[in-house]
Amino acid sequence: MRTIALINQKGGVGKTTVALHLAAAFQLHGRDTLVLDLDPQASASEWHDARENKLPHVESIQPARLAKVVEQAREIGTGVLVLDTAPHAESTALEAARCADLVLVPCQPSIMDLRAMRKTADLLKLVRVPAFAVLNSVPPQRTVADEAEEMIAGTLGLPVCPVRLGDRVAYDRCLITGQVAQEIEPAGKAAAEVARLYMWTCEQLGMPAGELVLTSAGEHVDVAAGANDRTHTHAHVGG
Ligand SMILES: Nc1ncnc2c1ncn2[C@@H]1O[C@H](COP(=O)(O)OP(=O)(O)O)[C@@H](O)[C@H]1O
Ligand SMILES: [Mg+2]
Repeated sequence: MRTIALINQKGGVGKTTVALHLAAAFQLHGRDTLVLDLDPQASASEWHDARENKLPHVESIQPARLAKVVEQAREIGTGVLVLDTAPHAESTALEAARCADLVLVPCQPSIMDLRAMRKTADLLKLVRVPAFAVLNSVPPQRTVADEAEEMIAGTLGLPVCPVRLGDRVAYDRCLITGQVAQEIEPAGKAAAEVARLYMWTCEQLGMPAGELVLTSAGEHVDVAAGANDRTHTHAHVGG
């Protein structure tokens, strides 16, 4: 099992958006994927409630149960575990980072967001887990993101993921129907960015990216021998 934690002490920066888009990408590539929603606001869980295709699973859990539920997820053979965390909850963020193989810190290239990132960057220095900032809601002007990247890497000492996510309607609109951008606009720019982020994430985790085995409607695609027969059932944990 590989675990990815989405962390940023600031809210509204894209933790849940990146968590769900990555989780859906792993699931669509045939990995049994589980999202643990550690935010009392439960936006990942609400996305799942609205979702017709019930994969990937999303479980809303109390932070105190994290270690136990991570263990259960491993025991039932989860392939990829995604931890979506709450803002303003340092101890939970720290514990999620400790459970993770990779920490992603979504952030927007605004001066307010960058200033607020110091707390998160300092917190991540307490754990020995690879962590990267992911620039999100990036405007079309390249210089804004370039400057943000310089500040994050230089001043905060946090490496920056080479894939940037633009400010795009698809990321927001898809949530209404419990979908992801790659499902509502498979040929769109958001879908292409998510595909690149997915590939990069696989590389960081030392996992093969694999082929698409599920369509957005949850149907199996005949890409590889055996891929058709997979039964995508996922026992519930933590409930
Ligand atoms: N790249 C993006 N382009 C457009 N809207 C975005 C993007 N990323 C996030 N959003 C929107 O911004 C809001 C906050 O994002 P969210 O992922 O919930 O942040 P967090 O989980 O960090 O609080 C949501 O309405 C989301 O749909
Ligand atoms: Mg959130």
